[in-house]
Amino acid sequence: MKFSVFIYSLVLSRFIVSSSDYCEGSSKGSVCSEESMQVSRNLLQATMRAVRVHAFGGPEALRFDTDVAIPEPKEKQILVRVHAAGVNPVETYLRQGTYHIKPALPWTPGNDCAGLVEKVGGEVTKFKPGDRVFTYKTVSGSYAEYTVANENDVFNLPSELSFQQGAAMGIPYFTAYRALILRAKAKAGQKVLVHGASGSVGIASVQLAKAYGMTVYGTAGSSEGLKLVSNIGARSVFNHKEPGYTDKIMEATDGLGVDIIIEMLANVNLQKDLELLARGGTVAVVGNRGNIEINPRLTMVKETSIVGVLFPPGAEEEKQQVNAAIQPGMEQGWIKPVIGKEYTMKEASQAHEDVISNKPTLGRLVIVI
Ligand SMILES: NC(=O)c1ccc[n+]([C@@H]2O[C@H](COP(=O)([O-])OP(=O)(O)OC[C@H]3O[C@@H](n4cnc5c(N)ncnc54)[C@H](OP(=O)(O)O)[C@@H]3O)[C@@H](O)[C@H]2O)c1
Repeated sequence: MKFSVFIYSLVLSRFIVSSSDYCEGSSKGSVCSEESMQVSRNLLQATMRAVRVHAFGGPEALRFDTDVAIPEPKEKQILVRVHAAGVNPVETYLRQGTYHIKPALPWTPGNDCAGLVEKVGGEVTKFKPGDRVFTYKTVSGSYAEYTVANENDVFNLPSELSFQQGAAMGIPYFTAYRALILRAKAKAGQKVLVHGASGSVGIASVQLAKAYGMTVYGTAGSSEGLKLVSNIGARSVFNHKEPGYTDKIMEATDGLGVDIIIEMLANVNLQKDLELLARGGTVAVVGNRGNIEINPRLTMVKETSIVGVLFPPGAEEEKQQVNAAIQPGMEQGWIKPVIGKEYTMKEASQAHEDVISNKPTLGRLVIVI
């Protein structure tokens, strides 16, 4: 602990010099901005700015705190200076306090993020300070200036991607790979419908399915969303808010249906999905927000399957498998996350409202830090 205070004092002395230089040279003469003074004060105290929940509730439960202790990485952990954090629907369920997992309060939300390695624990071998990284899971929460993550949950972020795009890599791409390849066991040449393709997991699913040689059909609920899904490589796009759109999907597949469906809203679509599947096809349920009545006979007559998908991956081997699959995609450009909207930490409540609203989805929502 003393060592960390020493390190941050060194950082602080460097920061104060550059900060006061900036203040003297500014048009306001010697007046420093409140924000830069706040950062100076925070560094002196080894504290940071972070979004925290002190009591479960609606989006307003997200508070912007300026005096949160900077976490200390343990032996196999990494301290990341967060540059962007992804906003996932699950963080809204956790904030509400009604999810099957209840975090201890006060709690900093956030799983996905991208940034620079600030400091590593004594047993870390894969990373060093200054490395560009992303993660899908943090120990201390990613809606913050600094976060701690386990070394095995951290991955290299190639320079081809911005930090904002890095914040869209973790849960979306790991979930999409898990749904498509590991659970639905999709193969090259098959027809894949991404039911809800304009959001984070949907975009990842379209890009992966296309790269693996599948014919991709995608849905969205707005004209901008349809354009986005088409631009990232879907062969045909359909509006899931339009009556009769499933008939159009059947027509597009010559009446045969699709082999795989990656489903983002099963409580609305599962019955339709069973009708849309080709013989032997599989629906992979990624998203679900309620109950639905289905006719199980449909699974018998076409010998189809419904499989559930639950992130995060369990086994270490699987994490490395997914990472090995996506690293070349990031470097070569066929994995390109789409950013829908950026927010500041003070706007985290708005980001939470937007991520579960009925507004058209156009990619990933990120908090820039
Ligand atoms: N199983 C897991 O481990 C796991 C992991 C990650 C996410 N999830 C869940 O998966 C879902 C998607 O996550 P995300 O991060 O991609 O969310 P997101 O970025 O908010 O995207 C939501 C997607 O759902 C679409 N949608 C809305 N109404 C629809 C309908 N009637 N039929 C089909 N799609 C519809 C949206 O399209 P428009 O806005 O264009 O209408 C958008 O493409 C969420 O429920 C999330 O909680 C589960």
